Amino acid sequence: MLSTLRVAGRTAVSRESAVRNLAVGLRASSTWANVPQGPPDAILGITEAFKADPFPEKINLGVGAYRDDQGKPYVLPSVRAAEEKVVSSKLDKEYAGITGLPSFTKAAAELAYGKDSPVIKEDRLVITQSISGTGALRIGGEFLASFYPHAKKIYLPTPSWANHNAVFKRSGLEVGTYRYYDKNTIGLDFAGLIEDLKNAPNNSIILLHACAHNPTGVDPSQDQWRQISDVIKEKGHFAFFDMAYQGFASGDADRDAFAPRYFVEQGHNIALCQSFAKNMGLYGERCGAFSIVTASPEEKKRVESQIKILIRPLYSNPPIHGARIASTILNDPALYKQWQGEVKGMADRIIRMRALLRENLEALGSKHNWSHITSQIGMFAYTGLKPEQMEALSKEHSVYATKDGRISVAGITSSNVKRLAECIYKVAG
Ligand code: LMR
Repeated sequence: MLSTLRVAGRTAVSRESAVRNLAVGLRASSTWANVPQGPPDAILGITEAFKADPFPEKINLGVGAYRDDQGKPYVLPSVRAAEEKVVSSKLDKEYAGITGLPSFTKAAAELAYGKDSPVIKEDRLVITQSISGTGALRIGGEFLASFYPHAKKIYLPTPSWANHNAVFKRSGLEVGTYRYYDKNTIGLDFAGLIEDLKNAPNNSIILLHACAHNPTGVDPSQDQWRQISDVIKEKGHFAFFDMAYQGFASGDADRDAFAPRYFVEQGHNIALCQSFAKNMGLYGERCGAFSIVTASPEEKKRVESQIKILIRPLYSNPPIHGARIASTILNDPALYKQWQGEVKGMADRIIRMRALLRENLEALGSKHNWSHITSQIGMFAYTGLKPEQMEALSKEHSVYATKDGRISVAGITSSNVKRLAECIYKVAG
């Protein structure tokens, strides 16, 4: 009896191990056995690390997403009001056209180029809704890769938004760089920028951050923009603007659109990417626009037809909810005015936090000059901290931000700024 049990037991064990071996064998020969583990995203990966940290006083200065002074995500009251209007009008959920909601794209064009812009009046502007700013960049990248007759390479400033490189490479463009930030002066390397634009082959594609340069917060002055425009014109370069922060830099949407509007005035037929993630707080709604200025209404039609052909196999047509909210705000004078005040409120809070961070660092007796914290603009401060100092900030102090020393000022509050300054002082002196 005992031996029968023993035999039965052995049989069960060997069956189990056979099954295990088979599973291991199958795993080894699995279709995805050779897929390598990729690194976490340079920006979005920070949020994952932050979430996994149990320390109650942890601070997330990674992703550029606005927080109120309590450190909470902020839904703009104008957005809430517009959303209620949208919901109560009980609209249907039909597909938008390939280029999105016309009431949204028309208003987005006016916001970017100005209501009286000749390119709108003369019917020369192609504009399509996009999956926020990233989607706009991708549409632009793919359009240029297919149709720009002079080059297949786009030049990015050094440094640039961490995702630009991947977006343009996946669009089929080669990526080059031009000098932008000078780490010795913690400011713009204007001479290097101009020299690199002059040395690039004629008719190159140049990516420009319209305002609130990400990650450095260092923008050219209006006079420097004029000089950049001249060089780009002389060289026959193509200006491709990324405008993810209109309204966020100065609190004034018209002022922040100075550069693309000036270029258009100067006769550049620019491309422009817009995002409503930051200035309306519509992050997860993925609401943006891509536009390109053409020479004539006839050319506009041809370009638009190709943009549609390009979008259709990507995602068919864009999501409608966020665009309805943005369109309601942009097309309703009272809501528009309210929104302008709210964007200014966000920009002002960021400016206050910059000043507080600098004051706290100076009060601690830090040996560094932190004046760049208040001279840079937009959502980010480029602290000049080194990767190992950033690492110490996260590992030893639960302060999370990207390795390049960029901190999202929007994540600073009146209650965490003192601790933040202390942590920076501990790692940097
Ligand atoms: C950022 O730079 O943090 C934002 O633009 C968010 C993102 O998608 O990277």
